[in-house]
Amino acid sequence: MKSSHIIFLLIIWINESHQDFPGTWELLVHNARIASMHTVVTRFNTVLLLDRTDLSPSERGYRQYHCRMDPQNPQDQDPKPDCFTYSALYDLINPSPRALTITTDTWCSSGQFLPDGTLLHTGGDYDGFKKIRTFTPCETTSFCDWEELEDTELTQGRWYATNQILPNGSVIIVGGKDAFSVELFPPRSGGGVVNFPFLQDASDDQMDNLYPFVHLLPNGHLFVFANNRSVLYDHTNNIVLKQYPQLEGGPRNYPSAGSSAMLALSGDYSTATIVVCGGAQYGAYNAMNISAPAKTSCGRIEATGKFPVWETEDMPFPRIMGDMVMLPTGDILIINGAQTGSQGFDMASNPCLHPVLYKPDEPVGSRFRVMNPGKVPRLYHSTANLLPDGRVLLAGSNPHSYYNFSSEFPTELKIEAFSPEYLSSENKFTRPKIIELPERIHYGDEFSILVTGVLPVLGMHEVNIASAPFATHSFSQGQRLVKLDVSVTWSGQLASYRLACKAPPDGRVAPPGYYMVFVVYRGVPSVAKWAQLL
Ligand SMILES: *[C@@H]1O[C@H](CO)[C@@H](O)[C@H](O)[C@H]1NC(C)=O
Ligand SMILES: *[C@@H]1O[C@H](CO)[C@@H](O)[C@H](O)[C@H]1NC(C)=O
Ligand SMILES: *[C@@H]1O[C@H](CO)[C@@H](O)[C@H](O)[C@H]1NC(C)=O
Ligand SMILES: *[C@@H]1O[C@H](CO)[C@@H](O)[C@H](O)[C@H]1NC(C)=O
Repeated sequence: MKSSHIIFLLIIWINESHQDFPGTWELLVHNARIASMHTVVTRFNTVLLLDRTDLSPSERGYRQYHCRMDPQNPQDQDPKPDCFTYSALYDLINPSPRALTITTDTWCSSGQFLPDGTLLHTGGDYDGFKKIRTFTPCETTSFCDWEELEDTELTQGRWYATNQILPNGSVIIVGGKDAFSVELFPPRSGGGVVNFPFLQDASDDQMDNLYPFVHLLPNGHLFVFANNRSVLYDHTNNIVLKQYPQLEGGPRNYPSAGSSAMLALSGDYSTATIVVCGGAQYGAYNAMNISAPAKTSCGRIEATGKFPVWETEDMPFPRIMGDMVMLPTGDILIINGAQTGSQGFDMASNPCLHPVLYKPDEPVGSRFRVMNPGKVPRLYHSTANLLPDGRVLLAGSNPHSYYNFSSEFPTELKIEAFSPEYLSSENKFTRPKIIELPERIHYGDEFSILVTGVLPVLGMHEVNIASAPFATHSFSQGQRLVKLDVSVTWSGQLASYRLACKAPPDGRVAPPGYYMVFVVYRGVPSVAKWAQLL
């Protein structure tokens, strides 16, 4: 057979087998009215959507009763009345999200849930630069809304910063444009910032140090990654304890957006492994080169090791602006983004429509599985979040400075869900169901979960607790999955059993707050119930 025939047959095979990739897509909301640039899931199973607020004048967004003069941009020569709001709450059922009120500019801001379940949200641009806001989530029958604090603000303006909750429930706010420092919420006594020169050292002529990847390791220190460098940072004493080797293959943070996740913590919680995947070629941003191929490479390092080194491997697709979503099983879904260009307005092309599953326990060379492609390009300013039912919610994409529905990659108002293979109908009978779970779980305590489902004869159950991260700009701030120590006991009732679990030992393994508790049996997760760890 001639090679052209082989290629022809291969094309037919690819076309026909395309239906056979695992995973399914569904459209949840046809018109969310805003393109969510920052997205979080709350403990009431609602989804908080938030775009930038300096988009006026606009024909989109949610109309407000009170128009105000567009106050955000001091350089704006021609301020116009702004009658729209760019945040909303979606309850996963009602196709019209409920409008929320937020006025200061949230463009490229950061956030994290506090131990009591309140979202702390900081910074942005213009009048939002130093702003501190909170959102205390509520039942879908109530009307909680944003609060923009008036009596306190950040010490330093923070645009493109990363927030991470600490073991004691304080939140550290790391970096930002021209902000080579960290600060805390609540502030240290006397307030103020602590310089963090690493962020400046990691910067290059196209920045590449913004939205640093910050992971709280189970030894209590922070792993901070910027550009191609990373350090082990003792945030209590402000000391860099270790410099890790540089990751080869070019910059990974904004604007050369790769993504990063910490693998699930398990066992005795003495080790933690960080993965950093994809990103733009160095220089693609400065050259505004939308056809420069993105990176396929993923780096992986045992951050708690004595002499850690990066191990690299290639994804099946090049990808920039991908999101790495930690699934309840401990596998990571890499989704959204593009195959060429860089991060930023109108800087990317060739959407990467195939999600890829990363299976961390497989050997190098067999960790990636290609999933069923979606149809909606999700480029700059798009998000991905794990839902309590195991699906992944996809929102946003607006690669333009304003809403634009007539360009090649229009502002995207659709919200979708991707269901990994574990939700397929063949797994229906394997899926465990949580009947009873304590609402509060204390560090180090034994507790039990009442579950129904097939009798656990073919494998062990896992109980895995997942944080609800703040997703923006291809990184999920505060994302964490912790696998608990579990043993099965019979409940005394037919077709139900109790799982005896041990809570994480302390806030270094899992900082205080609300977690989605998943029971996973043979790779199939239950619907999660929320519990407060304290
Ligand atoms: C939490 O820990 C940090 C150390 O990283 C410390 O600076 C801060 O004061 C602590 N916060 C509280 C409320 O104790
Ligand atoms: C890391 O990035 C710098 C530029 O910021 C570059 O000079 C260096 O060679 C890179 N390191 C590796 C291992 O690629
Ligand atoms: C864009 O990047 C590609 C691949 O690196 C390169 O071949 C091309 O010359 C670049 N174009 C410009 C205008 O820099
Ligand atoms: C929308 O984008 C297209 C091309 O990307 C551009 O030509 C057009 O001017 C934009 N429209 C608005 C209203 O900004």
